[in-house]
Amino acid sequence: MTQFARGPFPGTRMRRTRTHDWSRRLVSESMLSVDDLIWPLFVMDQTGRQSVASLPGVDRLGTDQVCHEVERAVNTGIPAIAIFPATDASLKTEDAKEAINANNLVCRTVAEVKKQFGNSIGVICDVALDPYSSHGQDGLVRDGYVINDETVDVLCQQAIVQAQAGCDIIAPSDMMDGRIGRIREALDGSGYEQVQIMSYAAKYASAFYGPFRDAVGSSGNLAGGSKATYQQSPSQTDEALHEVALDLAEGADSVMVKPGMPYLDIVRRVKDTFAVPTFAYQVSGEYAMISAAAQNGWLDRDKVVLESLLAFKRAGADGVLTYFALEVAEQLG
Ligand code: PBG
Repeated sequence: MTQFARGPFPGTRMRRTRTHDWSRRLVSESMLSVDDLIWPLFVMDQTGRQSVASLPGVDRLGTDQVCHEVERAVNTGIPAIAIFPATDASLKTEDAKEAINANNLVCRTVAEVKKQFGNSIGVICDVALDPYSSHGQDGLVRDGYVINDETVDVLCQQAIVQAQAGCDIIAPSDMMDGRIGRIREALDGSGYEQVQIMSYAAKYASAFYGPFRDAVGSSGNLAGGSKATYQQSPSQTDEALHEVALDLAEGADSVMVKPGMPYLDIVRRVKDTFAVPTFAYQVSGEYAMISAAAQNGWLDRDKVVLESLLAFKRAGADGVLTYFALEVAEQLG
């Protein structure tokens, strides 16, 4: 610890700078702004909206609803949205081939959003097979094991159809080895050198993803199955840095840590070590916890949400994917 010339109390009074609001604002180190927010959206191939019991306040949006919601995001200045599909059960297969259908729900949604809003907002798409597979795993399964290299071939095709549709940032969330480099090559080879890659680099095998799996309808398919053979174990720290180093070497433009609040130590280490654009995902389970407590009147929703997001900034994140993005943007505006 730094040695201060001045001695302790009464020479030093820590409360002096905390006395007035102007002074607290003046000394504040971290700030949350609308520019820090990425809003994840769930889309479905019907009209109207469907609520998700474990994500109160977050609906699956029908094709007639998406642009209206995106317009709200554009109006608040949210820089980017992330689109996730609740794929019809009849389209889910063992080989998840709907993922590479250039006319799938995600591609149609991206094309529509880009047509209406152009570069007023960035669009991010997940690359992983779980919303399309009948088994709910992120990759192809052989003999009960998610096979790496053949999965990566499919992920490259998935990235290409998304880029074709107009996606600005490809976000591989699958945790297969070597996928960032292969996807970069595939994008460049098809003329998409300008499409960014935001790698879910340090993604943990977490129980906090439960409500998301309800929203995309993969929880039943996964049937208690685990993703521990590809996502990181919650005990690991150095391994997260190793993953980030590899993804950067393979061409990632930015990296993500996920989940968020339970992994702020990882956010800080990644930012300090690599000094690259670093994002954190305040995942569905974190949203559900805060919402449930607020619904019971046990927590002040607005205050807790702002505090939780400021914590990401303090830990070094450049931005946060959060289901609270729109309400926070409206509050900050
Ligand atoms: C898909 C994916 C998941 C999330 C984002 N992309 C779920 C998972 O890995 O099982 C979770 C996001 C959230 O919980 O909000 N691979």
